[in-house]
Amino acid sequence: MRHLLDPTDLSTAEIDAIIERALDIIAHKEKYADACRGKKLATLFYEPSTRTRLSFTAAMMELGGNVLGFSDARSSSVSKGETVADTIRVVSAFADIVAMRHYKEGAPRVASEYSRIPIINAGDGGHSHPTQTMTDLLTIRRELGHFDHLTVGLCGDLKYGRTVHSLIKAMRRYEGVQFVLISPKELRLPDYMKNELGDNYRECSTLEEAMPLVDVLYMTRVQQERFADKAEYERLKDSFILDTEKMALGKPSMIVLHPLPRVNEITVEVDKDPRAAYFRQVENGKYVRMALIYTLLQWKEQAQPSALTPTATDCPCHNDRCISTTEPVEKKAYRDADGVLRCFYCDHSLG
Ligand code: NCD
Repeated sequence: MRHLLDPTDLSTAEIDAIIERALDIIAHKEKYADACRGKKLATLFYEPSTRTRLSFTAAMMELGGNVLGFSDARSSSVSKGETVADTIRVVSAFADIVAMRHYKEGAPRVASEYSRIPIINAGDGGHSHPTQTMTDLLTIRRELGHFDHLTVGLCGDLKYGRTVHSLIKAMRRYEGVQFVLISPKELRLPDYMKNELGDNYRECSTLEEAMPLVDVLYMTRVQQERFADKAEYERLKDSFILDTEKMALGKPSMIVLHPLPRVNEITVEVDKDPRAAYFRQVENGKYVRMALIYTLLQWKEQAQPSALTPTATDCPCHNDRCISTTEPVEKKAYRDADGVLRCFYCDHSLG
């Protein structure tokens, strides 16, 4: 069966088809009101969430299906020490599809190895967040009409921001897309992600410098929960703040996106600017998740096309946020385009 663990699990044609499906759902909601009648979505959230969990729930309800699950791992058997592998074997007996959010990177991939039902990654640590990316793509499509030849500015926590990592993996596949990276030096994009960009990016040290260049400005919060050193978080948290003066430097056709929650990085005055698309983006999240649930249930008979071919390895992963450091999973690695050996679960270099 097919899972959605990372944007690379979808071909560009499949991404486009899911966006088209979401647009069809928006135009003909009544056509889909019973599309998942009798089906159950399990939402397994090991980490806090408002938008993503509620939007999955609303999506399944609007497809006529049901939802079960937990929003706090402390209220599940995880608190008794159950592994992801065992939890997913159990949940496979009760539901038809799973949306999983986990603080460990690669946890949804481990789940997919033991599951009898499709797994959707709803965010794993600082790694990946493919359904937010599909939300972002649907928003860009509805606001700007196309993906090709856009310049995308990514601002804030590019190190731990999983939404940034996933958006890059999807957008880099469209023709002529350029990236502008705006972050404090401590929160720069990880090397494995920079490799994805080739020559198609530049780094800016201020928002003022970046504003006139971008068609899409993707603002993110500094990911407090991923910092070992809280003083470091305090020092970096307000590095970039988008306000009306900076908005005045942007193109009239530009849009501002933010996966939310916002902390201080966009002042509330910016909300009134028609180019601020982040609350429209939230609504798109529900429609694209409807399209994803509908499509993955239809694809249940298809084999997962493997974007990566992993091999067993003796090298342990040194990323302490990786699931392989806490659960007894088989150590697996793959070689990237530059021949670097990387962890199959979290993509960090094993060198
Ligand atoms: C994002 C996430 O969880 O990664 N939120 C979301 O899913 N909308 C962004 C964030 O938490 O900063």
